[in-house]
Amino acid sequence: MKILVVGSGAREDAICQSLRKSDRYNDVFCAPGNAGMRLFGVQTVGIGELEFEKLANFAIENDIVYTIVGPEQPLVEGIVDYFQDRDLKIFGPNKEAALIEGSKTFAKDLMKKANVPTAFYEEFTDLGQALEYVETKDQFPIVIKANGLASGKGVFIIKDMGEAIDVLNQLLTDHKFKTDKVIIEEYLDGEEFSLMAFVNGESFYPMPIAQDYKRAYDGDKGLNTGGMGAICPVQNIDCDVVYQSYKDVLKPFVKAMNKYGVNYTGVLYAGLILTKDGIKVIEFNVRFGDPETEVVLPRLKSDLSKVILGLLNNEDIDDITWKDQGVDLGVFVASKGYPTEPIIGKTIGPKSQFQNQQLKINFAGVSESNNELVTNGGRLYVVKTHANTLQNAQDKIYSYLDTVDQTNVFFRRDIGKNAY
Ligand code: AMP
Ligand code: GLY
Repeated sequence: MKILVVGSGAREDAICQSLRKSDRYNDVFCAPGNAGMRLFGVQTVGIGELEFEKLANFAIENDIVYTIVGPEQPLVEGIVDYFQDRDLKIFGPNKEAALIEGSKTFAKDLMKKANVPTAFYEEFTDLGQALEYVETKDQFPIVIKANGLASGKGVFIIKDMGEAIDVLNQLLTDHKFKTDKVIIEEYLDGEEFSLMAFVNGESFYPMPIAQDYKRAYDGDKGLNTGGMGAICPVQNIDCDVVYQSYKDVLKPFVKAMNKYGVNYTGVLYAGLILTKDGIKVIEFNVRFGDPETEVVLPRLKSDLSKVILGLLNNEDIDDITWKDQGVDLGVFVASKGYPTEPIIGKTIGPKSQFQNQQLKINFAGVSESNNELVTNGGRLYVVKTHANTLQNAQDKIYSYLDTVDQTNVFFRRDIGKNAY
């Protein structure tokens, strides 16, 4: 099968690698992809993720059987509707369903209708009213979120009134992240985990849970990032809790989507937190999580390309199987300065450095110059392994990373610490 993956990050690389593991031969293309992916057989296509017409033409001209969309932006902007109007198979939610990620208020409203537990919240477009509301709060922290897409950076944990004034001004006066609406919500305390599921209409098929290490530095310090590493599974979260999140979150939410006319096919991602009052939803996303996918898909024993084709053909899928032993761990290497001002265009080593070692790598913000890979974004590549214990996985990954020239890059040394 010829399959096109849209996106350019390590998540898309992981999807491509998983598709290439099929027992039939799959020809996998990634648009636009990145220079690192090419080292391991992915064919990159120089078309941007928002160039819908060119992507659709590529799919037609190259007999692509179906397209998978990695990032949220093309989904929110209607790539699925565009492809479907041209009778092309594409895996992901349509524009309306993508509002579940594109509009926090849309998602909250659906959660309320579905009786899915989430943080108590109020929404505001007016700065004065938002400030008045914060003044009624006698307890900090509180959480302020920009309403639209913000690449994981539009969430602010607010410690005092001064911070609230500053952030509300950034969002409602300066319209940072192009927002004109904020959500102010209750702060939830507990262990976070990510639960993804393949969804088609009323059917959903959960994947194993994972944990994303979002802060930039060790000990969960520093700013939120797109994810500095991930682990799957999360042993500290009990099986009972996982089943409960199918029952109290996935099932009622999928039911509500169907009841209220949200026609969903794709991966649904629930960011969950286990509080002392039970499981609550932090957010829903309408796609594979990043960096969770990089450690979840290697555990898939079934053929991803067949699972997705089955979903697109509205077949019942009853045999998605996953490895149930050991740990999959991934540690991201990022450009110095990330997440605020990552250095761009600096070498991270000759291509051979990445080809000649035993660990798996998925590439993200890298490009190529004079046979070397150079930084072209914040998060560069994720080094991954499967091992029987967390300690063994960490030993394998960090003994490799210790050999890496760290002049232009950094990484966390404690990925996986909360899971065991
Ligand atoms: P998000 O971009 O919605 O995934 O949020 C980024 C991170 O902010 C989450 O992973 C949480 O760590 C934190 N966060 C978001 N909402 C809340 C909340 N209501 N209470 C506590 N932490 C939150
Ligand atoms: N790992 C968080 C996300 O994919 O949004």
